[in-house]
Amino acid sequence: MPYPEIRPRRLRRTPAVRRLVSETRVAPAELVLPMFVKEGLTEPRPIASLPGVLQHSRDSLRKAAVEAVQAGVGGIMLFGVPAERDATGSGGIDPAGILNVAIRDVAAEVGDATVVMSDLCLDEFTSHGHCGLLGPDGDVDNDATLAAYAEMAVAQAAAGAGVVGPSGMMDGQVGVVRRALDAAGYADVAVLAYAVKYASAFFGPFRDAVESALQGDRRTYQQDPANLRESLREVELDVAEGADMVMVKPALPYLDVVAAVRAAVDVPVAAYQVSGEYAMVEAASANGWVDRERVIMETLTSIRRAGAGIILTYWAAEAARLLRESY
Ligand code: PBG
Repeated sequence: MPYPEIRPRRLRRTPAVRRLVSETRVAPAELVLPMFVKEGLTEPRPIASLPGVLQHSRDSLRKAAVEAVQAGVGGIMLFGVPAERDATGSGGIDPAGILNVAIRDVAAEVGDATVVMSDLCLDEFTSHGHCGLLGPDGDVDNDATLAAYAEMAVAQAAAGAGVVGPSGMMDGQVGVVRRALDAAGYADVAVLAYAVKYASAFFGPFRDAVESALQGDRRTYQQDPANLRESLREVELDVAEGADMVMVKPALPYLDVVAAVRAAVDVPVAAYQVSGEYAMVEAASANGWVDRERVIMETLTSIRRAGAGIILTYWAAEAARLLRESY
């Protein structure tokens, strides 16, 4: 009797057979590119802790959005960096605020060629950097913040967002946003709920990207990285409140959470490969310590394998191009 009888290596012998039996594929259409636009810029600006990612001017944003569409990305998620901030984050609600203006620009430029999404949160617009309005005790006032999110959702829908992404982790935010959109005649605008968002140190470079003024942390509203059951409860609540899609964030350190959420609900599940995940790979690659493209693809494949059907990643356009070349 020859030994071993069963040889798994047979199915690993050539690129062709490996491709044939591959269990997980990442498609460009599943990738969403987060993009930053800063009010008042005439030229795009690099972000030191996110090499390769830009703070766009309105013009460069439009051009980069078109390039991303040509690369085949499934969506674009917009973040605005205002020139001025105030305690209530009024620039997020103002139709002339940078994010709403940028949504209008991008929607006009790309039409239906990709899904235009917007981050629905006040932290980029508040002088204190928190995701909501502060109460007298200095903590974020949940219900006062909800009223602001409702207005912000309507402003983003009016500007042309096809999907809004409430990301402030206020209780009840999805229900309030859904009702506000419906009441204003935007029943067709979808809600991508940042259902599971951890109080993560992996958001560090993002705070540079949006020049966040935050002192302290977000632990009274974002989740404790130690918890999984709590995430399933957040997801259940968001789906009950009308979330069309749910997101887990960050991605790679939380693949168990992605898998558990995928098993728990039937709505599309997204994962956000956040700024710190990107920055670590770029830093190691710049030092020649890892093979950059292989690491990028390995992370995306792993997030996909864990169960995310949609991946937000700063590599979306580049990865979409690489994927198209490899098929
Ligand atoms: C909130 C928001 C944040 C990120 C996405 N939406 C920042 C935060 O909660 O501190 C982080 C994204 C990243 O790190 O790439 N507007």
